[in-house]
Amino acid sequence: MKTVTCTAPVNIAVIKYWGKRDENLILPVNSSLSATLGQNELRAKTTVAVDPSFTEDKMWLNDKEQSVNTQRIQNVFREIRRRARKRKGDGDKSKIFSQKIHICSENNFPTAAGLASSAAGYACLVYSLAKLFDVDGEISDIARQGSGSACRSIYGGFVEWQMGTKADGSDSFAKQITPAQHWPEMCILILVVSDQKKHTGSTEGMQTSVQNSRLLEKRIEVVPERMTNITKAIKEKDFHTFAEITMKDSNQFHAICLDTYPPISYMTDVSRQIVRFVHSFNNHSGETKVAYTFDAGPNACLYLLEKDLGRVISLVNHFFPAQDNGLNLKVQGLPVSIDKPSQK
Ligand code: DP6
Repeated sequence: MKTVTCTAPVNIAVIKYWGKRDENLILPVNSSLSATLGQNELRAKTTVAVDPSFTEDKMWLNDKEQSVNTQRIQNVFREIRRRARKRKGDGDKSKIFSQKIHICSENNFPTAAGLASSAAGYACLVYSLAKLFDVDGEISDIARQGSGSACRSIYGGFVEWQMGTKADGSDSFAKQITPAQHWPEMCILILVVSDQKKHTGSTEGMQTSVQNSRLLEKRIEVVPERMTNITKAIKEKDFHTFAEITMKDSNQFHAICLDTYPPISYMTDVSRQIVRFVHSFNNHSGETKVAYTFDAGPNACLYLLEKDLGRVISLVNHFFPAQDNGLNLKVQGLPVSIDKPSQK
């Protein structure tokens, strides 16, 4: 039996991916950008194995068996095996590419609670399979076919997912824009408002937005300029510009969710209180020190510099005491360095 175990961290988007132009290949309607968290924070851990005695492909997620007969898993398997066969050639005695695969994966955080579990999960799966089958070169386009945002977790640091223009998706992959060490003072603070499963999954939510949100059409025109400006801000470590674009993009994404019919609301009253808290903290500080961003769920991700971490944590604990009024807000994952998948 040949086995490989890897871990891959979650990534937190500052320019959101929301909407596909091709559902099967998972090609987006706009480019997006995120930071990948550290290995020891929110991450997926996956072991993959092949053995000539295995009779079928099988998968377990958090100790429960899951079907591998989904279009996404099948697309990932097909692409990995195709590249392995191409690399090794049909003369390969082990014929590893025709052996059945067993997968065992676990997350160290709640699955499907808007904490990008599918991103870490598929990035980890594809990274592990690539190691197992000796597939090298670009693999973020394979992760993309598992879950769009997963392609960004293949790299560490700040990562861009270029939407591409080709119909076959060959130019739609992730690219690192700065490595993990570029902005070591940058931290991400995750405020867990709820770890319940979200009511509308991202896949379904974005499908409806593409079908009927007029605001989404407008957003597609806005994103390219934001991508250019935030990339420049990251390269120049201009926190103010970075933070402003991040918050505006999160707000626009949630405005699109409300513009979708029927409307989707991921943010709760507590999420909105956090938005107000961040703006009033920045106002009182006389400069932008914290940026919030919310994915498809109520949990807040705050971007801030390490020097402000202590003060922000104590204020969060003061204004949002855990368990008070049933809010159950807790701070998690501090501080977060920026890393990429790795083999164990
Ligand atoms: C709100 O990558 O989960 O987190 O491609 O359908 O699997 P699928 O969607 P997914 O969507 C993530 C959307 C988001 C924004 C982002 O991470 O860019």
